[in-house]
Amino acid sequence: MAADRDKETSKGFDSEIGHLYGPNPYISLNSTYFRGQRSVYARDTNPTWEYLEAEVGRLEGGRCTVFASGMGAISSIVAAVEGRKTLFLAEDSYNGTRRLAQYLSDIGRLHLNMVTQKQLSSLCFITDASPGDILFYESPSNPHLNLYDIAAISRVCRDHGLMSVVDSTLATPFLQRPLSLGADVVVHSLTKALSGHSDVLGGAVVTKDPELDSLFRLRRSLLGAIPSAWDVYLILRGLKTAELRVDRASKNAYSSLFVFFKYLDPSRIYYPYHPSSPTLELAMRQMTGGGGVVSVVFEDEATAERFLDALRQFHKATSLGGVESLAERRAIHKGEEGTHPGLVRLSFGIEPWDLLEQDLVQALETALRQS
Ligand SMILES: Cc1ncc(COP(=O)(O)O)c(C=O)c1O
Repeated sequence: MAADRDKETSKGFDSEIGHLYGPNPYISLNSTYFRGQRSVYARDTNPTWEYLEAEVGRLEGGRCTVFASGMGAISSIVAAVEGRKTLFLAEDSYNGTRRLAQYLSDIGRLHLNMVTQKQLSSLCFITDASPGDILFYESPSNPHLNLYDIAAISRVCRDHGLMSVVDSTLATPFLQRPLSLGADVVVHSLTKALSGHSDVLGGAVVTKDPELDSLFRLRRSLLGAIPSAWDVYLILRGLKTAELRVDRASKNAYSSLFVFFKYLDPSRIYYPYHPSSPTLELAMRQMTGGGGVVSVVFEDEATAERFLDALRQFHKATSLGGVESLAERRAIHKGEEGTHPGLVRLSFGIEPWDLLEQDLVQALETALRQS
């Protein structure tokens, strides 16, 4: 009897458990495990996490560690700098990443070197770097949608002994796979398109390097930045439809360019697949689609606010990658003081295009009529 129970329990530690009972993964709500199992305590591991780690790892082509949020994932990487040397951080990174790095630098925990768009694109940041340093950047960046040549940057980092990290949240693994382009680490906010329903936070770090993978797991366990099994289940549920949603959102976002072109100068519209973008060739080389985020720059704050107030299908809210379309002025956020006050970031959802099109047209007419 006791032996049978042990056998049953051991099934509960199998990340394949979902396949044993049905299409959905098992939600492990255990905080502790019976002695003799391959885990001791749920801050170290959890079968439901393992299922998500297997999925995200397969999509990115590496070993994945999941975290309680994108910032939890980014913290585990930035923490890896502490014993190393300098963190080279792209100036156009997400404001949370910049604020975290600045805070750690201010309290003397790491040496920070901000890298401009020009220094990163031309690879000349490398002249200031030493072996053991870390480069962290986004491609596409949030909210300016700047693109960087991941293969070229990875090559120069490897040649000079730097670890390169790409936050690929805006691209998702369906549109871009940084590890296959040579990056050492890829990071995601799972809060965005991979979960996709604006109902959960999560983060992931993926690497091919087993030593780094162990370090990220250690940091997660010791700092306690762990996701709940229920949250991980929600992310897994969203992940089942992520590829379809990303495809639809990308189509909606791309279609919107041709509406904006009628009202705004093309240089005020940012999107990886923008037909006259100077990085279009790069986008087509390293991404298989442009993604669901478009940023547009209105002349001033007042025009941007009129546009946002006039929108009916788009909710005025932060975040991106959900099934519903969202829009906001980025300059309202802490850490975005340098962003143009008229810049509006739109995150396209999966609504029918004709509804979004009508809404954009009427909001643009309203906003620009009065300017
Ligand atoms: C590019 C990018 N990276 C990381 C994060 C942080 O993710 P989270 O909000 O899940 O902590 C965000 C959040 O907006 C983001 O846009």
